[in-house]
Amino acid sequence: MSEAKPKIAVVGAGLMGHGIAQVFAFAGHEVTITDSFAANLDSAKARILANLKDLGDDERAVERVRPLADLAEALRDADYVVEAVREDLGLKQQLFAEIERHVRADTILASNTSVIPITQIMQGLQKRERALGTHWWNPPFLVPLVEVIETQWTSAAAVDFTMQLHAAAGKKPAHVKKDVPGFIGNRLQHALWREAVALVEQGICDAETVDTVIKAAFGRRLAVLGPLENADMVGTDLTLAIHQTVLPAIDSRPGPSPYLEKLVKDGKLGFKSGEGFRQWSPEQQAALRVKVLRHLKAARAQDN
Ligand SMILES: NC(=O)c1ccc[n+]([C@@H]2O[C@H](COP(=O)([O-])OP(=O)(O)OC[C@H]3O[C@@H](n4cnc5c(N)ncnc54)[C@H](O)[C@@H]3O)[C@@H](O)[C@H]2O)c1
Repeated sequence: MSEAKPKIAVVGAGLMGHGIAQVFAFAGHEVTITDSFAANLDSAKARILANLKDLGDDERAVERVRPLADLAEALRDADYVVEAVREDLGLKQQLFAEIERHVRADTILASNTSVIPITQIMQGLQKRERALGTHWWNPPFLVPLVEVIETQWTSAAAVDFTMQLHAAAGKKPAHVKKDVPGFIGNRLQHALWREAVALVEQGICDAETVDTVIKAAFGRRLAVLGPLENADMVGTDLTLAIHQTVLPAIDSRPGPSPYLEKLVKDGKLGFKSGEGFRQWSPEQQAALRVKVLRHLKAARAQDN
């Protein structure tokens, strides 16, 4: 990476976009941010400043963020563009076609999609070798991981640039070598969620018990001991023996659980309706959100 810090353009100033802009600005990059919805663009700097204050980070970082309503102007000098607009394939495809008209030939282009294949988003580009996915986790300034997803067209140089860019900004980039649904993190996360739902569906325990078992047992270790480290620790032979017994009993249906489908059909949508797998009062919802944030902040403080 050259001496001068690459100039960043963030397209989409919503929940993820303003947080991503904050991370790059805090790391010393000049950042432009744009959004088609004026209220979100106008409030972006105030939201970033509030986050910096809350975290005790240097508030001057916000001065490196420039909100610009005009897409062409926001992209003009960018070395790296990250898109964080609504999760909508057509919108993202259309936006990248437009982005490509306004950037240099060597500007790297990234999408922060959660689950849309990067290949589909980038297939219409003139220069597909400079395009990839970067999957951040919410909130971007508290969760370290960024998955860097290459497609069949992405150049090694674009992957290296993006990995280094995020590592230098204090993130933990993880290289995803194939553009598969769910990338790495969400495949792992939802493999666990599938079995969690199945345990409730089969009457083995209630929803609260599933969560207690995870949080009070292997969840305690997960932040410092990954499953494959754990498998090596106990021995691959023991892991094999466990898999021979347990895997045939674990849910392996290819689609979503009928139990989950029924919750949605019955309007039990979780926090937003007051009931999902469990009942949630407004106070309980607020308390859980606070607890998660407090935990993530403490983990970040420990990292530093
Ligand atoms: N929320 C999460 O936890 C999370 C985590 C990882 C990835 N993502 C992904 O990040 C992306 C953004 O998610 P979010 O939660 O920040 O959404 P959001 O709704 O908070 O923000 C999206 C922003 O995009 C803007 N926008 C829409 N069309 C636009 C256009 N044509 N040009 C410029 N701006 C436009 C909207 O006005 C809005 O401000 C999605 O693809 C989402 O799947 C979200």
